[in-house]
Amino acid sequence: MGNMDGLRRTHYCGSLRKEHIGQEVVLMGWVQKQRDLGHLIFIDIRDYTGICQVVIKDTDSFCDLTKTVRSEFVIAVRGIVRSRESVNTEIPTGEIELETNMFKVLAESKTPPIYVKNDDTAQENLRLKYRYLDLRKPSIQKNLRIRGKMAKAFRDFLDNNTFLEVETPILTKPTPEGARDYLVPSRVNPHEFYALPQSPQLMKQMLMLGGIDRYYQIARCFRDEDLRANRQPEFTQVDIEMSFVDVDDVISMNERLIQYVFKTIKNIELPTPFPRMKYSEAIEKYGSDKPDLRFDMQIHNVNFLSSLMDFSVFTEAALNGRIGAICVKKAAEKYSRKAIVKLEDIVKTFGAKGLIWIKIEEEGFSSSINKFLNENAYKALVKEMDAEVGDIIFVVAGSYAKTQDSLGALRVHFGKEMNLYNQNDLAITWIVEFPLFEYDEEEQRYVAKHHPFTHPMEEDIALIETHPEKMRAKAYDIVMNGDEMGGGSIRINTVDLQEKMFKALGLDEDTVRRKFGFFVDAFQYGAPPHGGIAYGFDRLAMLMTGTDNIKDVLAFPKTQSATCPLTGAPSIVDEKQLAEAHIMLRNE
Ligand code: AMO
Repeated sequence: MGNMDGLRRTHYCGSLRKEHIGQEVVLMGWVQKQRDLGHLIFIDIRDYTGICQVVIKDTDSFCDLTKTVRSEFVIAVRGIVRSRESVNTEIPTGEIELETNMFKVLAESKTPPIYVKNDDTAQENLRLKYRYLDLRKPSIQKNLRIRGKMAKAFRDFLDNNTFLEVETPILTKPTPEGARDYLVPSRVNPHEFYALPQSPQLMKQMLMLGGIDRYYQIARCFRDEDLRANRQPEFTQVDIEMSFVDVDDVISMNERLIQYVFKTIKNIELPTPFPRMKYSEAIEKYGSDKPDLRFDMQIHNVNFLSSLMDFSVFTEAALNGRIGAICVKKAAEKYSRKAIVKLEDIVKTFGAKGLIWIKIEEEGFSSSINKFLNENAYKALVKEMDAEVGDIIFVVAGSYAKTQDSLGALRVHFGKEMNLYNQNDLAITWIVEFPLFEYDEEEQRYVAKHHPFTHPMEEDIALIETHPEKMRAKAYDIVMNGDEMGGGSIRINTVDLQEKMFKALGLDEDTVRRKFGFFVDAFQYGAPPHGGIAYGFDRLAMLMTGTDNIKDVLAFPKTQSATCPLTGAPSIVDEKQLAEAHIMLRNE
């Protein structure tokens, strides 16, 4: 204890209350602020638990020393707890203060480049560069505490339900989750590479083949993909797999799990079963496979407009695609023509050619298609959309996918802008019956919507050779407040069906061998029926802490361009290391 002069911390700063009055305590922590009133000096000392006010008199022998401390100096103080004259109701220790009888500076601090307070407005890059200072903020510490408790809650439930926590390799083969891999060169096997796992998918299935029966892991996953507010290049999954189960078994176990986690962390009682919605219904009504169901505002099929008016855009869309509409209640006042033009940008990023609007007014309507919209069509539209004076109907026409996508995005935009839900609302739903395949325009072939080991729905298996596009999967996602919190499926466990699946995916034998040889071989030795799920642990932590930025729930997050400003990763390596890894850099 050399540098602490034999002092021992007796209490946390945030723990002192009226009942400690009269006790001698030793606190250690950082200087939050110092106020020098001449005859008295006040210092707020902060640690992991909170802040306590420390008082020093000008007659104290260490008074001069206390005048030299500044923000973020590390100090130790010993003193007697006493009641405070002017009570501060904003902090839990606000009724007491410490009358100091010993004061020591344990470490000095340069002037910090960011303020250590919740409402600091420093730029994100600066905060991440000095993350150790940022981490001192109570808000970030609170988030990490909740995250830690969540991990414990998941573990507690799963351990009590006969799941075994097993670690799977980080240096591995590519995993089929559809993003780019992070590669690691092998020194001892020249010109060969490991891939970091995009998920433990293949290994957790191997565990089921290995008779482990029920597995879980709080697993780090790596995906080299474009980052967004809810994505990181390395992130954490609560990864789960179970043997001898079908869809309902996985779903009901997971409902109990999620119920337990919400009860433990948020003290919220979630009613079960959670609602289930078919993928096709989610797309048709909400234009998304992760619909935000905190508010309604459904998309309507208004193809009938094409026969009521002479407008070529509608004629074309009704024939080969979709005319879709949403009605935004009481929006007319808020959205001027100029504001509506901005909305057009939203739908255009989702492939819509334009955005048609119709304002319902006392004396009729105003609209971007005034020229084409006749009384008949207008009346039919208002009836279909149940629209009233003051509402705006937005219409998009084009291919089915683009119409639904863009109206879905517009719907989410209005949900937020028009305050259609409360911050505390929670809407959880399972999305089920996903398509097994989707067509990849670029590769001109079907690709697996989930991954190639997903089991088709029994009644659709017969379609695998003739109509793969019509097949539905035994796959499910769990969606909360419009975000995909987790997803999984029942897996194929017979060689015959797996081979048909690879065939439908247009993968020849060589490719299958090269990519998944070990995996396919394993299924020749008795694979139990099995299935599972993985939760986006960081996304769940965002929901539980109420942040909309994934970086707020990670101790050391990466930036939008996948860099770490604190460590400077990624960085160039010296020639010797490259040579050892048998790598020569290309001049791009
Ligand atoms: P999937 O790819 O759907 O499934 O991933 C599961 C969940 O992980 C979260 N997630 C992410 N979170 C943060 N940053 C990212 N870049 C990121 N990517 C995904 C999402 C998602 O729902 N092996 C399958 C699961 C299974 O079939 O059992 C899988 O990985 O919340």
